[in-house]
Amino acid sequence: MTRWLPLFSLLTTLAGCPQGAAPAKPAADENTAPSAPPPRIGAVMLETAHRFELAGRAQRAGRWELATYEVGEIAELFDVDMARALLPGACNDDVSEAMFARLLDDELPALKQAAEARDAALFDQRFRLASVSCNTCHAACAVGFIEVPDTPGQSIPRLGPGSAANPATSTPSESADAATD
Ligand code: HEC
Repeated sequence: MTRWLPLFSLLTTLAGCPQGAAPAKPAADENTAPSAPPPRIGAVMLETAHRFELAGRAQRAGRWELATYEVGEIAELFDVDMARALLPGACNDDVSEAMFARLLDDELPALKQAAEARDAALFDQRFRLASVSCNTCHAACAVGFIEVPDTPGQSIPRLGPGSAANPATSTPSESADAATD
């Protein structure tokens, strides 16, 4: 079972967010025409992961413009495609919607600002915060084994041993009936 990520309902919950809610893209855009099939979550996630890894590696290499660009691309990807993607039926709606909104409206813009400011300590801190949201959504969607490292410069997803310190990857999802999806 799959369903829409209900962007429009979650936008109404963001009044308290310091950055405010980004307006939804008009449906007239050729990429978001109502008749277009929804993006596949797996494809959106592969691109997200690749760009998040590149952002971290670029930051580590002192390539700040590249890091800024990659984070901006993820924000655009979330705004345009992730908002329309079908989530697996296993997902806990409340948690996955909250993590999506947090990344889109708060953590990705904040990470981009840290890259623009070329502030390595701030970038590290905000990269870690964003990775927690990634991992929390994965746990809520019964894919907590897909672990996003909390430190820039590592491959995504993590292929080494799982992180015992990461509650999102050490705690299985509560969705007991969803493993068949
Ligand atoms: C709204 C929930 C949600 C958020 C937020 C989220 N993910 Fe995911 N992610 C998923 C789901 C669900 C899957 C499994 C997709 C599938 O079943 O094809 C996934 C899969 C992945 C995969 C595996 C891709 C593959 O097929 O090999 C990676 C890597 C990944 N996500 C990285 C990230 C990163 C990095 C972030 C944060 C910047 C993130 N995700 C944020 C829900 C989310």
